Amino acid sequence: MTTSVHKVRTHYDEVAEVYDHRYDANRGKFYYNHISRHVMERFPKGGRLLDLGCGTGLFVRHYVNEGGEAVGIDISRGMIGKASDRCCSSDFTIGTAEILPFRGGSFDAVSSILAFSYLKHPEKTLSETYRVLRPGGFISICTLGRNLFTRGLPAIYQISEAMNIKKACFGAFGERYYSVEEMDQLLNMAGFSNVQVKRCSFAHYNLARPIYDIAKKIEPFVERNIPYLAYNICASGMKPI
Ligand SMILES: C[S@@+](CC[C@H](N)C(=O)[O-])C[C@H]1O[C@@H](n2cnc3c(N)ncnc32)[C@H](O)[C@@H]1O
Repeated sequence: MTTSVHKVRTHYDEVAEVYDHRYDANRGKFYYNHISRHVMERFPKGGRLLDLGCGTGLFVRHYVNEGGEAVGIDISRGMIGKASDRCCSSDFTIGTAEILPFRGGSFDAVSSILAFSYLKHPEKTLSETYRVLRPGGFISICTLGRNLFTRGLPAIYQISEAMNIKKACFGAFGERYYSVEEMDQLLNMAGFSNVQVKRCSFAHYNLARPIYDIAKKIEPFVERNIPYLAYNICASGMKPI
């Protein structure tokens, strides 16, 4: 395991207990529901889902509540512990999304929410995803994209770390933020068809209240008309039949 993967894992083990607080309050809930809806759009109702970097099982619960069956994988034992408490009917595995310990063709859908940016070998994850999906199955992911606002984040995280400013769930992990073109290329190269890549989210739960209120109001307009300013990327595709 590389140092940076170890660092990510240790970080999430440490914050597992408090991770959900950010999505419990109104702003966090709105934000998470918003991106979950974008991810769910590409999935048919029901079926068997694998969630990569499942964390505390927020999306697994969402999927199961919509009538599906779900399994999660994550490198953090702490996060997996919380996920198992939350979703007793689902199975969770501690492991990396780059080597999937599942049989080929065993899932109807694969998701990943806010975890893809941590992957050191995204191509490996996508080829593994392709393998475990059945023909006709879908991948749908949401991850922080690269734009004007997110470009400076790695530097901000590094400076904060150097100054010992700690904020739960943020750190200098060498995360990778993708452009629409890069995401499109990654999914196509992995063999997926019907690839769709779009940007979503403008109202980040972390924004100060008055700015958040404005961002929330104009979010639909931004997503439709100036998508470059929306900072998450939703990418999806189908394993050809
Ligand atoms: C920001 S959290 C998102 C968690 C969850 N998907 C959610 O929507 O709340 C990122 C998660 O990705 C996991 N992660 C990071 N790198 C990973 C990898 N290589 N394989 C599996 N999980 C990974 C972390 O342990 C953490 O739980």
